[in-house]
Amino acid sequence: MEMKSMLNTALNYVVKDLSVSTNGLVLPSSDKTNPTKGIGYKWIHENNESELITAFGVYNSFQEPVPEDGCGNFDQLLDKYFKSISHCSLNDNCPGYMAWIPSGAMYASCVADFISSCSNRFVSAFMNAPSLQAIEDVVIRWFLSMIGMSDLNNAGGILTGGGSMANFQAIHAARCHCYASVCFFSITFPRGRSFAKSDWECIRIPKKKENFLLFPFFFYLKKPEDILKLTVYVSEQSHYCIDQGIQMCGIPQSNVRYIPTHSDFTIKAEIMEQRIQEDLTQGLIPMMVVAVGGTTNTGSVDDIDKVCEIGDKYGVWKHVDGAYGGFFALTKRGSKLLKGIERADSVVLDPHKSFFLPYGTGCLLVRDKSTLLKANKATGAYMHEPYALDGIPNDLSDMGPELSRRFRGLGVWLPIKMYGIEVFRKELELKLDLTQYAVQQIAAIPYMRIMTQPKLTIFAFRLEYDQVNDETKDQMNKDLLDNINKRGNIVLSAIRSCAKSESNEKGKGVDVFCLRMVILSQRTQIEQLRQAIEDIKEATQEVMQAHC
Ligand SMILES: Cc1ncc(COP(=O)(O)O)c(C=O)c1O
Repeated sequence: MEMKSMLNTALNYVVKDLSVSTNGLVLPSSDKTNPTKGIGYKWIHENNESELITAFGVYNSFQEPVPEDGCGNFDQLLDKYFKSISHCSLNDNCPGYMAWIPSGAMYASCVADFISSCSNRFVSAFMNAPSLQAIEDVVIRWFLSMIGMSDLNNAGGILTGGGSMANFQAIHAARCHCYASVCFFSITFPRGRSFAKSDWECIRIPKKKENFLLFPFFFYLKKPEDILKLTVYVSEQSHYCIDQGIQMCGIPQSNVRYIPTHSDFTIKAEIMEQRIQEDLTQGLIPMMVVAVGGTTNTGSVDDIDKVCEIGDKYGVWKHVDGAYGGFFALTKRGSKLLKGIERADSVVLDPHKSFFLPYGTGCLLVRDKSTLLKANKATGAYMHEPYALDGIPNDLSDMGPELSRRFRGLGVWLPIKMYGIEVFRKELELKLDLTQYAVQQIAAIPYMRIMTQPKLTIFAFRLEYDQVNDETKDQMNKDLLDNINKRGNIVLSAIRSCAKSESNEKGKGVDVFCLRMVILSQRTQIEQLRQAIEDIKEATQEVMQAHC
């Protein structure tokens, strides 16, 4: 009875919260009379001191010693949580949330998470929960088929806590694959290349043997210090979790090659190849090329096919970070953009982004699951013996660094089974359409310039009134962002350095302040976009009047 009453109480709060959420955004405010009234986003992009002090005051108000006795009042605690704890934060569930890449928190998946927490099964060992593992495995197979990795006997993957963890695990697998202590190769060299010592140290088996001369069998022992020679090639637009993953894998940061991008923010693949060649002649060991399938900054999609071609040519691990954009492979437009994704050795998808699920579910897919098994090989005295039958699935704990963990599969499996994949596909198509609509409408506002044309559902724009100097222009755009956000209907974010042009020296881009719009939540529909356009138009007029 207590269980049911707790659940009913919680449900009432959740339903109320979700319906109130549609009315606006609530942020900490310096308004002393109403510190939880939303006021916009000054405190993030400007590091505004008074807003920071307010936010810190809110934070400090919750510090207290560990209570010896509980209050015993569930309702009272939930009341506190919903009225003054969760309330005092940016609401990612709000349909007007277009600031950063949101997690959709699809309700069916939230309920599935609740069920998996309550039933609380240990899913990491096959024999403990074969049916639950089957659910996780089948979800992985569905995802593999969505991106066209069709060799389901060899391919595999693992659900992770998010995109950062999935990228880290991919880098770890790539490093282990590259850094096998003893390599047994038939040595191969690109036709016409000179025979340098560095070539011996970075032998790979190229995929296209016809381009190579084959040499006899050869043993090669990598030395421990060779880890310092491993190099990684990523777009300068890649997400910073790639850097974190590289650091966690013990690869020197100085061995990361940030490859410049074209004016549309896609990687300059020919420069990536040049850098690989330079590193080879320096005796370094190219370990991994990374293509981004939807960058966080502007949603640009690298030429994945080209990056994979280069990876194959040099026998380097090919990785695609599709944390934001990967699921667009479900759509016609997206699958064209993501062409070649199926060639990668590893792909990151983030169901808690473009698959609309609540935070806490990422995914790593690999073309050859033995790479994950080798990279995570370890056991303990209390663990079971290897399974004595061929064909028994590997324990989930053998595929990644987590042992005890939440049963993530249910939160993915249940909504897919309930709605079918077509619903997800249509929702993603709609987000692409809404983005085009928003771009057209914003571009039609006088003095407004679209700074990055969207490939998927992220773009940047800016007010470009040429009669004022650059500093005033920046200030006008900051004011515009605050003016839009403080209306409380939508929330946008800011981005700098996106006015990149190919002629730009050093490829760093012009440092201008732009507004950034991300249209991805399943709650964001045409009404919110119409409201957004109204708000942007009105705010633009007000800012123009104030400055001109
Ligand atoms: C392209 C890309 N990769 C990785 C990540 C990190 O994912 P997560 O926030 O799930 O750790 C993000 C987050 O926005 C992203 O956009």
